[in-house]
Amino acid sequence: MYLCVLLCDPLWLAVLFFTTKGHEGLHKGSQSKDMDNYKITTLNDFIILKQKDFPYAKGELSSLLHHIGTAAKMVNKKINKAGLVDIIGSAGEINVHGEDQQKLDVFADEVFIGSLLSSGECCGVATEENENEIVFSDIFASKGKYVVCIDPLDGSSNIDFNVSVGTIFSIYRRITQRGEKVRNEDFLQNGSKQVAAGYIIYGSSTMLVYSTGYGVNGFTLDPSIGEFCLSHPEIKTPENGSIYSINEGNYIRFPEGIKKYIKYCQEIDKESGRPYTSRYIGSLVSDFHRNLLKGGIFLYPENRIVPKGKLRLVYECNPIAFIAVQAGGKASDGNQSILEITPSSLHQRSPFYAGSKNMVMKVEEFLDLNR
Ligand code: AHG
Ligand code: MN
Ligand code: MN
Repeated sequence: MYLCVLLCDPLWLAVLFFTTKGHEGLHKGSQSKDMDNYKITTLNDFIILKQKDFPYAKGELSSLLHHIGTAAKMVNKKINKAGLVDIIGSAGEINVHGEDQQKLDVFADEVFIGSLLSSGECCGVATEENENEIVFSDIFASKGKYVVCIDPLDGSSNIDFNVSVGTIFSIYRRITQRGEKVRNEDFLQNGSKQVAAGYIIYGSSTMLVYSTGYGVNGFTLDPSIGEFCLSHPEIKTPENGSIYSINEGNYIRFPEGIKKYIKYCQEIDKESGRPYTSRYIGSLVSDFHRNLLKGGIFLYPENRIVPKGKLRLVYECNPIAFIAVQAGGKASDGNQSILEITPSSLHQRSPFYAGSKNMVMKVEEFLDLNR
């Protein structure tokens, strides 16, 4: 009687069905199970995997990238705590650009410098927060093959308000001989000489996006295991986008070509999908990252107050331009490719237009016609 009731109950029937299936499986020996959902490539796996593509690579660049990943995790942890501990707000200092230094600017700067020093592969660093390049005199580091240019915390004025911020980095092979003291010129190479570049975005999730000149790959931090995992392989940016990102509050001071381009973005045209959408966060990394994935353009032109624009060529424009180009996009100062400019000083500024190829070309066209 009881057996009859049980066998009529659909739940029990289901249990019976699956246990029988499982049992069969156990007896069949080898099982073919779809394990795709369990496959994980961590940033460190990926770096080592890619190192094998270069038969003469000795792992120095890999070690450097690995250390950048570790520093990013430390900064991420601190950013997550912003608001809970005494880390938000001004550090009470003014940096080399006359800007208010945030506590997190200082923290991120120290963490990245420390991590690069301990990698032993980097002989010097140029950062937004320090007037001159930092030369490592440590016995191992001074023999390192690479120099790094870095904006340790990008968009830091947003940090107190829970808005996404980032880190931007650029790696060059030194020009001076190993063992020699690293010099200013090691940091003032044009962007096309970058060996690797990338950024970290501390957003609703934290991502590290980088390129060594063979495409762009993105890794999302899985906080449960503390690892960056490959989530966006071989990122390609659309050739045409529909987002334009610019601080329109400065409109009145923009060059004529940019004013006209903004009006062009706002016109109705079915074929090109206009009007475009306007999106501006005020953190270069976040604005660029969104546009990279969705298709769009980031613009920071010169204006009467900042005659060379606001963004810094060496550690903001160059690395972002490298990623844009590697993803099939474009980056320009309005006249020429960002990557072709030879910097003359560490904190040099440049007008900056980066993103979908056809959109950047359109901006250059507008600037050309209105000179
Ligand atoms: P940083 O915080 O490193 O000084 O960079 C801020 C930059 C950049 O992230 C952003 O695109 C731009 O400043 C925003 O400038 P405006 O506030 O003038 O729009
Ligand atoms: Mn910045
Ligand atoms: Mn910064």
